[in-house]
Amino acid sequence: MIISIEDYNKLPKELRVYFEPFKNVHPTVKSLKLMEYLVRLVTPVGGVVLDPFMGSGTTGIACKNKGFGFVGIEMDKEYFEIAKARIGNQQKLDLIKEDLKGAKQ
Ligand SMILES: C[S@@+](CC[C@H](N)C(=O)[O-])C[C@H]1O[C@@H](n2cnc3c(N)ncnc32)[C@H](O)[C@@H]1O
Repeated sequence: MIISIEDYNKLPKELRVYFEPFKNVHPTVKSLKLMEYLVRLVTPVGGVVLDPFMGSGTTGIACKNKGFGFVGIEMDKEYFEIAKARIGNQQKLDLIKEDLKGAKQ
């Protein structure tokens, strides 16, 4: 999720970490929009995607964004940690979005 610098500055400090860029050193980072399109194209409603070559986890983020389950396998520890952080941050962002929605009601 990308937010404007103005919105970022309005966030409480403890939430800012979820919007900060992190270092992704994977050489072939995929387009998130493309992966969201592809997982929707091939996955039945409520389905689970298995990515046995997870890399930095773009497919996993696409699955979370589109409401699919996800199982990822990655042999490189550094890429695995990046994927875990990216997918984990997406899940935290979803929780924050839910909280913000609840706070507005
Ligand atoms: C092109 S990246 C995959 C990108 C990823 N699918 C995504 O959504 O961003 C390929 C990854 O597969 C990993 N890989 C290659 N052989 C593997 C194996 N036998 N088991 C697990 N991971 C493997 C590599 O370390 C590399 O990070």
